[in-house]
Amino acid sequence: MCRCPHRLVPNVATLHDYRVTILPQHPSDGTGRRRPSLVVSRATRILADAGVESARAEAELLAAHVLGVPRGRLALADDFTGEQVDRFDALVARRAEREPLQHLTGVAGFRHLELLVGPGVFVPRPETELLAGWAVEQVGGHPAPLVVDLCAGSGAIALAVAQEVPAARVVAVERSPAALPWLRRNAAARAAAGDRPVAVVEADVTDPDLLAELVGSVDVVLCNPPYVPLGVTVPPEVAGHDPAEAVFGGVDGLAVVRPVVARAAVLLRPGGVLGVEHDDTHGTTVPELLSADGRYVDVVGRSDLAGRPRFATAFRRADGPHAAAAGTWQTGSS
Ligand SMILES: C[S@@+](CC[C@H](N)C(=O)[O-])C[C@H]1O[C@@H](n2cnc3c(N)ncnc32)[C@H](O)[C@@H]1O
Repeated sequence: MCRCPHRLVPNVATLHDYRVTILPQHPSDGTGRRRPSLVVSRATRILADAGVESARAEAELLAAHVLGVPRGRLALADDFTGEQVDRFDALVARRAEREPLQHLTGVAGFRHLELLVGPGVFVPRPETELLAGWAVEQVGGHPAPLVVDLCAGSGAIALAVAQEVPAARVVAVERSPAALPWLRRNAAARAAAGDRPVAVVEADVTDPDLLAELVGSVDVVLCNPPYVPLGVTVPPEVAGHDPAEAVFGGVDGLAVVRPVVARAAVLLRPGGVLGVEHDDTHGTTVPELLSADGRYVDVVGRSDLAGRPRFATAFRRADGPHAAAAGTWQTGSS
């Protein structure tokens, strides 16, 4: 993740003061009903005053959520009822206190998916869609690729790959007891929708014996680990609502990246690929880690749409002393 709170807010590195939100009165038309445009304009002012960067867009998204219509249909929507105005006001007040938008709506968009999110699980970020998209491109022509998503969280990367590459067998690894129910719920929903089921594995990705059955057989390892260095100030949405173990990666931000780089080299088949997201301050460090490992070739540092270093990719060497023997994978979940 980058440190920005969610898809509509650009990178913010400072904490905003929390403030008490006093909602101005709604302009009344005498019927108790309210035009969406008036309700949204008022909410936009409140959110902007609270430091929410994309206040208009977020006010529209909350209005669409309350009215049960797509955001693009707001202009054609019926007026808010009095009850809907109350519900909307309550959500706007919570957003003004910097609760993430996705916790208020209960869902986060990720590529072509809508994932359930809430307290205990990391809200997937738009920049991570690039890593998932890169993975989809890697396995596109493969008849039955085996893909492993380490640090799966809500399942964003794993489930996107499973949806977009129907032939893929996908394994999602997560450790957090708070995040796992979200992952299982999203995985079950996608399987019910017809996607090939993703195997959910409860494990610590720093375990040197991680996924021992898969050694040498994985085509693609993906990882969006916790990578913000401890002590870095993050926005209130992140500090107050993303789990700390999803965000912070030790003193230098690399506490999970390092063991993942080492274990991925064991899991990958010769010629398999690793993609690992990283902090934007690690655009040189992570590619260097991959090169220094000795088991990877063609290391590439990649940037996000804002031009910030975002993830690194590398191929598992097909030759030399580090090449590993292939293993087998028993499907199922733990
Ligand atoms: C930045 S979030 C990424 C979640 C998801 N992949 C995404 O892109 O939205 C990192 C995830 O790694 C999990 N995690 C942190 N340390 C872990 C470890 N040692 N083993 C397994 N999972 C871990 C956290 O619980 C969190 O869900």
